[in-house]
Amino acid sequence: MKNTLSLSNLSVSTDGRTVVNDVSFAITSGEVHALLGQNGSGKSSLANALMGHPAYEITGGNIRLDDTELTELSPDKRAKAGLFLSMQYPPSIAGVSLSNFLRTAYNATHEEQLSPVEFHGLLKEKMALLEMDPSFAARNVNEGFSGGEKKRAEVLQLLVLEPSFAILDETDSGLDVDARKIVANGIRKARERGAGILLITHHLDLLEELGPEAVHVMKDGSIERSGRIDLAREVIAEGFGTDSE
Ligand SMILES: Nc1ncnc2c1ncn2[C@@H]1O[C@H](COP(=O)(O)OP(=O)(O)OP(=O)(O)O)[C@@H](O)[C@H]1O
Ligand SMILES: [Mg+2]
Repeated sequence: MKNTLSLSNLSVSTDGRTVVNDVSFAITSGEVHALLGQNGSGKSSLANALMGHPAYEITGGNIRLDDTELTELSPDKRAKAGLFLSMQYPPSIAGVSLSNFLRTAYNATHEEQLSPVEFHGLLKEKMALLEMDPSFAARNVNEGFSGGEKKRAEVLQLLVLEPSFAILDETDSGLDVDARKIVANGIRKARERGAGILLITHHLDLLEELGPEAVHVMKDGSIERSGRIDLAREVIAEGFGTDSE
C-alpha cells in the first residue's frame, strides 16, 4: 500500500523568526525528493519541524501522513506513525549503548516486540550490510564516533527501524568515497523496501545515483523552484543565484 506524506502551506518559526515559509509538497512511498539550498536557507529547520522538535513552532499549515494529522503530535508519536529523521548533527547519548538504543527505538515504533536475542540477530545483519565493525553495537550512541561513523550509525538506524518516511539531513556529508557508496546502498535499500525519502544534501553524486522524483530548492525558508535532476545539476554547478528568473 502506498502512503503519502503531505506538507501543506507549512510555516515554522524559531527564536522569534520565520525560518520556513509556506512550504508545500507531497512525497509518496518509494519516492525520493531532494531538498537543496544555501546554508541557512531553512532545510534543517524544516526537517526538525517535521519531526516535532520543540524549538520549532509550526505557525501555519499542516503535516499529514495519509489521513493522520501529525502537526500536533509529539516526536515519539510521529515516529510511531512512521516518520524518521536522521539529524545533520546526531547527538551522542552518554551511558546508552547503540544496541540498547536501537532496540528501544525498534520496540517503541513496532507492534512486534523483539527480545535482546532476537534483536541482536537483526542488528548483526544490518551492521554487516553497512560493513560496520560489530564492536560499535556495545559503544555508547555516537560517543567518540568520527563524523563518518555517526552518519553510518544513522543509516543503521534507518535500516533497523524501517520507517515509512525518512528525512535524511546531510546523511551523505563528510563521508569518504567508500563510506558514501555504503551509505548510498543503505538508502537505496530503504527506498526499495518502499520508504519515501526527503534527502537534504549539498552533493550531486547520491542524487544521480538515486534519480529523485522531485528536486526542491529552498531560499529564505521558501521553496523557490521545484524540478527534476536537471535542476539539481544546475544549482550545484552554477550556484543558487537568482539571476535565472
Ligand atoms: N534553534 C534555533 N535558534 C535560532 N536560530 C535558528 C535555530 N534553528 C535555525 N535557526 C536559524 O534559521 C536559519 C535556517 O537554519 P537551518 O539550520 O534550517 O539552515 P540549513 O538550510 O539547514 O543550512 P545548512 O545548509 O548550513 O545546514 C539560520 O539563519 C539559523 O541560524
Ligand atoms: Mg542544515
